[in-house]
Amino acid sequence: MLNRRTFLASMACTPFAFAAETPALPDITKLPSVVNLPDPLIFLDGTKVADKAAWFHKRRPELKQLFQHYMYGYYPTQTVAVTSKVLSHDPKAFAGKGILKEIEISFGPPSTPTIKMLLAIPAERKEKVPVFIGMNFAGNHVLVDDTAIKIPTAWMYDRYPGVVNNQASEKGRGMQKDTWNIEETLAEGFAVATFYAGDVDPDVKDKRMGIQPHLEKAGIAPTGKNAWGTVAAWSWGIMRAIDVLVNQPELDPKRVIVVGHSRLGKTALLTAAFDERVAMAIPNQAGCGGTAPSRGKVGESVQRINTSFPHWFNDAFKEFNTQTDKLPFDQNCLVALCAPRPVLFTNAVEDTWANPEGQFDVLKAAEGTYKFVGATGLASPNMPELGKLSDGTLGYFIRAGKHSMSPIDWQAYRAFAKKHLPKQG
Ligand code: GCU
Repeated sequence: MLNRRTFLASMACTPFAFAAETPALPDITKLPSVVNLPDPLIFLDGTKVADKAAWFHKRRPELKQLFQHYMYGYYPTQTVAVTSKVLSHDPKAFAGKGILKEIEISFGPPSTPTIKMLLAIPAERKEKVPVFIGMNFAGNHVLVDDTAIKIPTAWMYDRYPGVVNNQASEKGRGMQKDTWNIEETLAEGFAVATFYAGDVDPDVKDKRMGIQPHLEKAGIAPTGKNAWGTVAAWSWGIMRAIDVLVNQPELDPKRVIVVGHSRLGKTALLTAAFDERVAMAIPNQAGCGGTAPSRGKVGESVQRINTSFPHWFNDAFKEFNTQTDKLPFDQNCLVALCAPRPVLFTNAVEDTWANPEGQFDVLKAAEGTYKFVGATGLASPNMPELGKLSDGTLGYFIRAGKHSMSPIDWQAYRAFAKKHLPKQG
């Protein structure tokens, strides 16, 4: 054991106190039909948000509650002690260009599965560096060659490199370096932190193998129709990783960028919306339930996602399958929760399942809130050409090709981060 540190998850990451503060919310039959994307600046009761204070202190909390109640489920209501332990540390990784660590993060009752977070830090640093954090699909070991990096033991999809009978193996090591582009990202002065999503909850249709039963049994997380789904559990896991990252001496706690691809991109945006320690969100091809409008008519529908992946959202969300007009929000409201912080949506032209045009409409429908709080919005009212970054505070990028996270996408992430991250905190 190289070191062990304990932090108390801060109040900033306790999204909502459930039992005590939850007023009764209307049943779906009592919700009004809203055909277009709802305006984030209008309260549930139809009144307008009058000023910035009302947005930050009243409407934002209301929206956070609505998203939890009707879609993602309620997060745990109590703070937990978070412990970190360095499992391995290579001070001369990547041919001397970086430091590579793997850190185990423990939280909740002792039986709760732990997160094994890979952390790569540039060797040359003039100041505390910004950090990208996000989950991966196939384990930390597929992203680097270093044999000290552990192979996940949790269930994994067979389609990933080296996975047999839903178990990852040594054969996958180093096979997906492009997806996280770590060396190139270090070379441009960013640290990279990532962990396997299955450490928090393996992506099967129930939650038996995830962290949820452990926290629910201890009375820390709510249960029932509005309880958290897998996307909320994943995002709560990212918040616990951020608890540890903001205490690393090499990293700038004011420059944490949350990134993720597809289902893990849905999670990235949710995390930024609820955790204000996140300086910037980059959901990649996140689509339905993330960056695409639930009211959209292109690509994946709410009914389809709730049928194929019934565990991602809560049971209340399924009531909206054929009545998305009854949702008291759409994904533009999730972006609005991030204001004034920069958000970049990245897409691929062949990935119509994720509705790239609809995602641009989502950004447009969040822009009013950005301006309301004194920020700027999109750089242009039109979608950019393929391969060109539209780099307003609300950014958009679409490239040729298919559904994936690739080095071209990382170039866009880094360019956007360099333009919009705050100066060292
Ligand atoms: C499926 C799912 C999408 C999801 C994607 C992914 O296509 O329908 O909602 O984003 O998987 O995570 O790769």
